[in-house]
Amino acid sequence: CGIVGYIGQREAFSVVIKGLKRLEYRGYDSAGVMLFDGFDLKVSKTKGKVSDLEEKSKSMSQTGTIGMGHTRWATHGVPNDVNSHPHLSNSGELAIIHNGIIENYEPLKKELIKRGYTFSSDTDTEVLVNLIEEVQKNEKCKLGKAVQIALNQVVGAYAICVFDTKKPDEIVAARLGSPLAIGIGTDEFFIASDASPFIEYTSNAIYLEDEEMAIVRLHKPLRIRKIKDDALVDPYVQELQMNLEQIEKGGYDHFMLKEIYEQPSVIKDTYRGRLLANQGLIKMAGIEDNLERFLNAERILIVACGTSWHAGLVAEYIIEEFARIPVEVEYASEFRYRNPIINKNDVLIAISQSGETADTLAAIKLAKERGAFVFGVCNVVGSSISRETHAGAYTHAGPEIGVASTKAFTTQITVITMIALRLAKAKGTLSNSDYHRYLQELELIPEKVQDALLTNDAAEAIGKVFQKSSNCLYLGRGYNFPVALEGALKLKEISYIHAEGYPAAEMKHGPIALIDEHMPVIVIAPKQGHYDKVVSNIQEIKSRSGKIIAVVTKGDVQVRELADYVIEVPDTSDALSPLITTIPLQLLSYHIAVLRGCNVDQPRNLAKSVTVE
Ligand code: G6P
Repeated sequence: CGIVGYIGQREAFSVVIKGLKRLEYRGYDSAGVMLFDGFDLKVSKTKGKVSDLEEKSKSMSQTGTIGMGHTRWATHGVPNDVNSHPHLSNSGELAIIHNGIIENYEPLKKELIKRGYTFSSDTDTEVLVNLIEEVQKNEKCKLGKAVQIALNQVVGAYAICVFDTKKPDEIVAARLGSPLAIGIGTDEFFIASDASPFIEYTSNAIYLEDEEMAIVRLHKPLRIRKIKDDALVDPYVQELQMNLEQIEKGGYDHFMLKEIYEQPSVIKDTYRGRLLANQGLIKMAGIEDNLERFLNAERILIVACGTSWHAGLVAEYIIEEFARIPVEVEYASEFRYRNPIINKNDVLIAISQSGETADTLAAIKLAKERGAFVFGVCNVVGSSISRETHAGAYTHAGPEIGVASTKAFTTQITVITMIALRLAKAKGTLSNSDYHRYLQELELIPEKVQDALLTNDAAEAIGKVFQKSSNCLYLGRGYNFPVALEGALKLKEISYIHAEGYPAAEMKHGPIALIDEHMPVIVIAPKQGHYDKVVSNIQEIKSRSGKIIAVVTKGDVQVRELADYVIEVPDTSDALSPLITTIPLQLLSYHIAVLRGCNVDQPRNLAKSVTVE
C-alpha cells in the first residue's frame, strides 16, 4: 500500500492525489483521502484507482492545507469503499492511514467492543485507530503519546499516519517493517511510503527507521522518538538523488516500456566505476571489504522472491561456473519457515528490487541470527534490506515503477556477474583469458541490449498472432532456463495468460502432454550453450504440432527451418546470454498485454512492493 501525508501551505488535495498516483504501483485496489478544513474532517474513499478517487472527490479540492491519502492492496477485508483508508475513530476525531498488518487485531478488537466501540469495516486498521482513541481517553495524553502507547500493544508491521482534529497542525507518523519517508520543505512537510510524491517540492528527506515515530508539526522542529523507550533520535536529513524525470513516463505509453528501453543505459550505470575491463579489474566496495568472507564461504545461499528469485537462479549458474562455490537458491518465503541449516561460514545473498519485500527481509534476519554473513543486492537506496544486510551492492537501475520487473532483473544479473567474476579472479577458477574475455563481453552488453530492443516490431507482430491464446509454454536450458521462467512470469503477470516456464528437457516429463496446434511454445535457443539439445526439443514440439516461437542468435539457420516464428538477438557468451535473450520476451509480454487491453503498469491483484508476508 502507499501512504501520503501533507501539512503546509499548499492545497493538500492536489499534493495528496498527485502523490498517490506516484505510489499507485504499491497497490491499487482502492484509495482514499482525508482533508481538514479547520472545522470538519472530510473523507472520501473508493474502490478502484486513484483517478477514480480524484473524480469522486473533486469537490473537495480546496479543502485546506492538511491531508492524508492512501492507495491500498487488500490484506484484511475485500477492496471496497468501506474497507479503504483513511479510517476514523468512533468519535470521528482521529483519522489514520496504515500500510501493513496488525496481527493481534482480533483480541484488541474484542476488548474495544467490550468497551463500547463499534466497527464499520473488516480492517485491522480501524482497530488501531480506536485503540489510539481509547488510550487518549484513558491517559488524557497528546496524540503522539497515545500513538506510542497503542503501538506498544500492537504485534505486526505498519507504517502509519495519524491525524487528530484537536491538534490540526500535526501529523504523527510511525514505522515498523513498512517504509516511510518524510520530506522537509519550507513551512511544509510531506510523509510518504517513498520519496516520489514529494520529489518536486523538496530534496531533503528523512527515512524513519523501524520502531521510530515522528511528530510532524507546522513551524516546529521535527521530533523523532523510539516507540519502545521514548528516546529522542537525532534526525538524519538526506539529500535525495532522484529527479522528476526518472519517475515520469518520458513519452512512452507505459512505465514498463520505458523501463525496458532504459536497460542499455541502466546496465551501464550498474557497472560504471566497477567494471574496468581495460585494467582487467572488477571493483565493488561491498565485495572488496568482505572478500575473505566470500572466499571462505562453504556455500552461498540466495534468497529472493518473484523476478529477483529468477535473477538468483541465474546467479547460481554463474557463480558456480565461474567461482566454483556451491550455491543454493531459495524462495525467501520457504526459507524463513523451514528451519534451514545455516552455518557461520555461509554467505547469504538477498536479491530485491524494492529492498522492502517482507519475506526476504525475514529470511535475512534469520540468517543473521544464525551467524551467516548477509549481502544485499537491492535497487532502492536506503531501503530496509539495504540497511539490514552486512554489506551489499546497489543495482543503480533508477526507480522501477511498472509492477512487472524488467530493468531490475537485468541489472541484478549484471551485479551478480561482476561478483562471480571478482570471486573467480580471487580464486583463480577462470583462466586468465576467459576472465578477460568476460569482462570485455560484459562491457559490450549495453550495446547488444540496444540491438536486442530492435526485436520490438517482431515481438509486436508475434504478439498479434498469439494474443488470444489461453496458455503458453516457455522453454530454455542452462542459463536460459531461468529466462524461460521469467518470460512466463512476465506474460502471466500482465496479460493474464496462463504461462509456464520449464527446462526444455523436462518438457517430456509432463508439459509435452499439453502440446497441440493451439499451444504456443517459446523456445530460447541461442547458439552458445546447449544448442543441439534445444534443437532436439524443438523437434519434439514440432512433431506434436505445437507453434514454435524461437529466440535465436542472429544468422541462425537450423532453428529457423523448424520454428514458426523466430526472433533474432545478438550473439554473446552462454553465461551472459540471459541479459540479451530476456529482452524480446519482455517486449512480447508487453505487446500481448497491450493488445489484450490489460493495464500493463498495474496488473490486477499485484503489488510492486510486497511488504506483507
Ligand atoms: C512483487 C513484484 C515482483 C517482484 C517481487 C519481489 O511480487 O510484483 O515484480 O519481483 O515482488 O520484489 P523485490 O522488490 O524483492 O525484488
